[in-house]
Amino acid sequence: LHSIPHVHTDVIVIGAGIAGLFSAIQASESKKVIMITKKSLLDSNTRYAQGGIAAVISDEDLPEYHKQDTLIAGAGLCSPDAVDLLVHEGPNGVNDLIRMGTKFDLEDGVFALTKEGAHSQRRILHAHGDATGAEIVRALSERTKLDPNIELWDDHFVIDLVTDDGECYGALVQKPDGQKVFVRGNATILCSGGAGQLFRYTTNPDIATGDGIAIAYRAGAHIQDVEFIQFHPTALCYPGAPRFLISEAVRGEGAYLRNIKGERFMEKYHPQLELAPRDVVARAIVSEMENTKSTFVYIDITHEKDELIKHRFPTIYEYCLNYGLDLCTDWVPVAPAAHYMMGGVKTDLYGETSVRRLFACGEVTSTGVHGANRLASNSLSEAIVFGRRIIERVMKLPPQDKQPLLKQITKKMSNPKQAVVEKRLKLQKIMLRYVGLKRSGKGLQKGLEELSRQLPFYETHMAKREEYEFANLLTCALLTARAALGREESRGGHYREDFPERDDLHWKKHIVFQRGEDRV
Ligand code: SIN
Repeated sequence: LHSIPHVHTDVIVIGAGIAGLFSAIQASESKKVIMITKKSLLDSNTRYAQGGIAAVISDEDLPEYHKQDTLIAGAGLCSPDAVDLLVHEGPNGVNDLIRMGTKFDLEDGVFALTKEGAHSQRRILHAHGDATGAEIVRALSERTKLDPNIELWDDHFVIDLVTDDGECYGALVQKPDGQKVFVRGNATILCSGGAGQLFRYTTNPDIATGDGIAIAYRAGAHIQDVEFIQFHPTALCYPGAPRFLISEAVRGEGAYLRNIKGERFMEKYHPQLELAPRDVVARAIVSEMENTKSTFVYIDITHEKDELIKHRFPTIYEYCLNYGLDLCTDWVPVAPAAHYMMGGVKTDLYGETSVRRLFACGEVTSTGVHGANRLASNSLSEAIVFGRRIIERVMKLPPQDKQPLLKQITKKMSNPKQAVVEKRLKLQKIMLRYVGLKRSGKGLQKGLEELSRQLPFYETHMAKREEYEFANLLTCALLTARAALGREESRGGHYREDFPERDDLHWKKHIVFQRGEDRV
């Protein structure tokens, strides 16, 4: 590492979703920032967020109600302190977004608020009906591009974090031409999102390969709660179409779920019907699919007015129409798809990880806000609340004066035999089959064995980005499968057919991994 070029800055931000953009803008008020993204400002999970951002805005709502809803969805594993911060500081964060140029939808001059699963109140702000994430990305990226203190490195890939003696010094980065550079910063903020690409079917874009979790794990950070994966109940399931998200807000505005016989079924599963917590709805859909030997169920909003559908859900309406499905007249085929990772890099209430000067924000983290199951639309709020707190702490960091002992963590040797694209597909199929919505001890063992057979990959040469991505996915897959096998109960986004009950006596605790030393 000593022989490669070094670049210095104050703050390194890795990732360009809401967490990265928001943190970079806040930091740039008095610091120089290098923002690294492996694709561009236009691609992140945030970009595809539809439903919106949850915050206590309405006079009829209270932080206490938002807290209760979040804790109930989190199924006993939320950190109440982290949730307190979310519900009390969320509205300020929303004001920051508005100051940064985001335009949320209004109705009669006040914010239009919708409802989603397991929320007791209407508290979801949205933009352009169902394009909330795209509007936030538009506003924040315009602001970022104009900021003289933010240097944007797009199409750059972070191979590893550079650490020495439990402290982070920056990142080893691969440039678009394949050359490497060591970016050194006083603070490094991981905002690299989740790992939806672990599964064959996901609402996430191709870039969601769990890089942040894997590089933090290799750097010695604590990784927590990764067995809890949220499957969104309703992703489009139509031949030739990607698993496009059909927002929970569609059910929030009154849509029904029907099995292929046309029967509504949610009353068999939960009193909140179509607006039950996501894990309940997703598993109910899978049970109906199994019972009717079908690969999908239907979402039906045809009973609502055409104007409401087109006005509230213009993106979804147009998308489905491209496939010949008209939301106003057709029931739309949907199935669950991997959507969000509740766990990740463990942080304190200021977003700092167990590695000094390494912070994490957004889906890559486990802040304690989501527990075992995230409440809809809490993720964008979490990113802005903790982004603000991270920058508060980063501003107070003293300069880093030590010279680190530089070493590269990721191994390298000779050429891989099998194309990495096939390996990725295989991993996704193993994960879907054994580590998906319904798990069992036997299946997880089998899944782990099959995943472990991919391990020799690490002994092959890694030079291409897809190879690093695959190695990162494999790390996340192994951690998820190991945690899922260890947790002998069912809770939130983790369901074991062999242990179908929640077991607070033995399992009201977190599974935490640290390289070389795993703790429960
Ligand atoms: C949705 O619009 O259903 C997604 C919202 C979320 O995942 O929070």
